[in-house]
Amino acid sequence: MSGLVTLKSDVVIEPLVERWYAWSHLISPATAALNVPYRHLTLLESFVSAPDIHAAACQNPSLRGGPFVDLPVTAVDEVRALIAKTKERQAQQIAFGEALREAYRAILKQADGFSIEKFYETLPTPVRGYVELYYTLGSHPDLRVIEPLLYKSPAYNPASQSALIYQANGDDRAFAFSTPRLARPDAVELERPFSDAIYDYLAALRITPQPLDAVLERLAQAGVSDAKFRDFLTEVLPPIIDRQHKGGTRWRYFGHACVLVEANDGTNVLVDPIVAYDTNGGIKRFVLADLPDRIDYVVLTHNHADHVLLETLLALRYKIDTIVVPSAGGGLADPSLKLMLQSIGFKKVIELDPLGHVESGEMLITALPFLGEHGDLDIRSKAAWLVKAGTQSLLFAADSNNLEPLIYEHLKEIFGPIETLFIGQECQGAPFSWTYGPLLPVPIDRKKDQTRRLNGSDAARGIKVVTSLGSKQVYVYAMGAEPWLQYVTSIDPSEDTMPAVNARQLVEACRGLGLHAERLFGSADVTLPA
Ligand SMILES: [Fe+2]
Ligand SMILES: [Fe+2]
Repeated sequence: MSGLVTLKSDVVIEPLVERWYAWSHLISPATAALNVPYRHLTLLESFVSAPDIHAAACQNPSLRGGPFVDLPVTAVDEVRALIAKTKERQAQQIAFGEALREAYRAILKQADGFSIEKFYETLPTPVRGYVELYYTLGSHPDLRVIEPLLYKSPAYNPASQSALIYQANGDDRAFAFSTPRLARPDAVELERPFSDAIYDYLAALRITPQPLDAVLERLAQAGVSDAKFRDFLTEVLPPIIDRQHKGGTRWRYFGHACVLVEANDGTNVLVDPIVAYDTNGGIKRFVLADLPDRIDYVVLTHNHADHVLLETLLALRYKIDTIVVPSAGGGLADPSLKLMLQSIGFKKVIELDPLGHVESGEMLITALPFLGEHGDLDIRSKAAWLVKAGTQSLLFAADSNNLEPLIYEHLKEIFGPIETLFIGQECQGAPFSWTYGPLLPVPIDRKKDQTRRLNGSDAARGIKVVTSLGSKQVYVYAMGAEPWLQYVTSIDPSEDTMPAVNARQLVEACRGLGLHAERLFGSADVTLPA
């Protein structure tokens, strides 16, 4: 190999934070500080004390997505070493996380409606100067972290960010939130924080050929030796394709909640980017190389790991102009997506409140309210995105739970009928502690947890969205069933689950009204009439 090369299309660049699959709560400093001791170390220590129980649980499909480390029993020594390394390298995060929990517990126990000011001087040292204590209007004591300050504190540690680079073996990967990524013989380690330009270089190398010598030199600068990396390069250059769409508004479904909309004038928006690798086999899919050379807007619906996938976002950063995110509320469970993205190298991030908008060319993108699906926590960083492209309007409602149908009546009065609706039917989500458990100051009663699930709309709620908005085309999406994101969703892809049954019921109900309706799976490519 000596001439021009590209990165093979099945090479995975898996971003990690101290060996754990990177997701937004591992970047935002306060949530990261709580996840290290109360998720990662808890899981690792449990594995070390009873590896055979973890191994057995991982063989049981009914325990899919549970708190079990998917590693062989023989990995105990490596996991022990990871525990020791985590305690050493993440010492500042652990100290902050423990202090935050202690402070939270203290005010919950002691603040009794009288002035909260006296508690400042009793706060544990690591959190002093980084939190504000307050009462809700209902006199419930609470605290929030001053996030911008935390990103400048020892609690934020970009040195723990790295990537594991390897060739995909089909779509299978161990569940991301229970299993650390240990070193493997077929992988290359990239020890660079996510803001480093090497991620952009490697991403562009997927479609833009470069001389081999130049590639190896650039990798050496980033501390990557060429011995193993040569296997990831190919001289078989990708076909030159014109990725810029022209003529009518087109949308393409990339799987789960990821949809690309391209207006007639070429302006485009990518919703909730999750893009599969070209694994040569498996179900038909669009891959990274199918995206346009420039992505004008990325919009994110909400801060759940299957909608904010750092792996895909990093793979696209070099071609994204602007990321538009819903504004956060400032609470501990609602970290700022904007600060998180800026800290990992995204330069242009815009926050929108409900009904706020951005526009360019023929495209107008508006944030609409998104109710529920977050365990009744005070979380505001969520939006359904209304995309108007020329005469077409498309709404990406993702996991919005239609808890109050009147909201869509109000929206129709303001925005008129919305022709095309994309809506999820994940109506049996995990109990909220699955995502937010490490942040809780005191454990939630199990029975209460079971009622506060991360539930989207079911068929009955979905059809009310359809009729309220006057939609003519309805697409059920965001069902987490594509095989390439099972490692993030852990969703049972079979046809007899509640979400799958509700998806069918919604499709049938829409068809009964004479509408076009279908459930998306894998890929779809639709050009809308002018
Ligand atoms: Fe969600
Ligand atoms: Fe989701």
